[in-house]
Amino acid sequence: MKQFDFIVIGSGISGLNFALNASKKGKVLIVTKKKIIEAATNYAQGGIAAVLGKIDNYEKHINDTMKAGAFHNNKRAVEYMVKNGPKEIQKLLDLGVPFEKNKSELELTKEGGHSTRRVAFVGDRTGHSIEKALINAVKKDPQIEVWEDTFAIDLLVRNDRCYGIEVLKNNRTLQLFSSAVILATGGLGQAYKHTTNPRISTGDGLAMAIRAGAKTQDLEFIQFHPTALDIPRKKRFLLTEALRGEGAKLVNEKGERFIDELKSRDIVARAIYNQKEQIYLDISHKDSKYLRKRFAHVYKELKKHGFDLTKQKIPVSPAAHYVCGGVKVNLKGETSIKNLYAFGEVACTGVHGANRLASNSLLEAIVFSHRIAHEIKKKKSPKYPNFSKISFKNQPSNLKSKIKKIMWKHAGISRTTQGLKNGLRQLQALNNKFSHVQKNISSLEARNLLNISIQIIKSAIKRKQSLGCHYLSE
Ligand code: FAD
Ligand code: SIN
Repeated sequence: MKQFDFIVIGSGISGLNFALNASKKGKVLIVTKKKIIEAATNYAQGGIAAVLGKIDNYEKHINDTMKAGAFHNNKRAVEYMVKNGPKEIQKLLDLGVPFEKNKSELELTKEGGHSTRRVAFVGDRTGHSIEKALINAVKKDPQIEVWEDTFAIDLLVRNDRCYGIEVLKNNRTLQLFSSAVILATGGLGQAYKHTTNPRISTGDGLAMAIRAGAKTQDLEFIQFHPTALDIPRKKRFLLTEALRGEGAKLVNEKGERFIDELKSRDIVARAIYNQKEQIYLDISHKDSKYLRKRFAHVYKELKKHGFDLTKQKIPVSPAAHYVCGGVKVNLKGETSIKNLYAFGEVACTGVHGANRLASNSLLEAIVFSHRIAHEIKKKKSPKYPNFSKISFKNQPSNLKSKIKKIMWKHAGISRTTQGLKNGLRQLQALNNKFSHVQKNISSLEARNLLNISIQIIKSAIKRKQSLGCHYLSE
């Protein structure tokens, strides 16, 4: 029997930061479904928000977070996150994250919904620098073991108590046991046809928790990022909100502006959607040398597609970006299942309310993963029950693309009650048809996407009025 003190599922900012802090208490195993670096964290562009500037204060950051979240937020969680932000940025600096500085002061950028400059950044690849620094530290820690290419299939739960996980590794299933299992599996953008999220973001942790009977919260609040590159049949590459923070304008075919670009994301995404024509992001009026340096990653990526950010406007449209809800947790990361913890994008602390404030995600992940590592105790191993292993069956399907289309059409930026009900019916029909899984990751992910999509639509149907990212047009 393989036993560990702490099993962490996921190697993004949440999982890695928890492991680094919990390893002082016991042996940590991180399982991650691809290579360690493969996480949404690695793709984060804009930066991480915290009260760092001279003219900023906690009250302003708290208010901006609550206002963006349509005041649906858990204020205690918001206060905790905001007040612990600056400390966590200092720790990232200590780990070697090279946040941009002007002499000794951190440089700060602006994004939608922030009343002041508050976002620390490393060019337009902030997430990559954070991920790299955390990985370097994890690799040096003898108390942390990392299993790459290890897919967590399900939680081992009996009588509302979690004992471990079942994984698929080298085409074999294994059961791993621990007195604390931590979900740090990130988001679920892949439930939608158009998303900024990487392929790994298939809502696995949320699906496992739902199957195990854990409580969820606020799943209807799916955030659509306003500005993803819009080229037919190509992945929606993110064009960071920091571009708008630094002066980029949104214009229609005639070159006219139609919205204050720095309103919160839900408002800007809907304004673009409502234009019903191609919309463009234009920052070509800024100095080209500055743009090539400040937004080097975006510049290079756009060049691959034949666009020059410094000279022309870029076609954009909204894409699924972030889930504001998730597995319901308290401020100690405890879920409704004993010994199961969650934080980061998979969890719902209530910090984001009905719409997340830009660059508060990395902040939430780092603050709460640290807190939980601090609070969690190494427990004596219980007597582990026997769990039967998952059974696989061959079943051909193109389930993923069917789910994505249904979710995009019926649970997107603008919803109707009838559309949500139609979507649910179609998903349930798929669920009846595809009740088995094959022994491969794609099939397991498809089952997860189906489980979470049903839950998202059910939550959306329950919310009868528009709020934040949940917008009902009729
Ligand atoms: P992730 O970083 O997504 O990590 C999840 C980990 O879990 C991965 O390692 C994954 O492989 C693993 N995993 C998942 N399922 C399984 C399984 N079944 N078995 C094993 N392992 C599994 N937020 C900001 O605050 N600022 C930004 O500038 C910003 N920019 C963004 C840009 C993009 C393009 C995207 C997609 C998101 C951005 N976000 C940003 C959001 C932010 O990056 C994420 O919310 C945050 O990184 C989530 O961290 P996490 O640790 O919770 O999850
Ligand atoms: C971005 O850079 O626009 C993404 C920021 C975020 O998701 O908070």
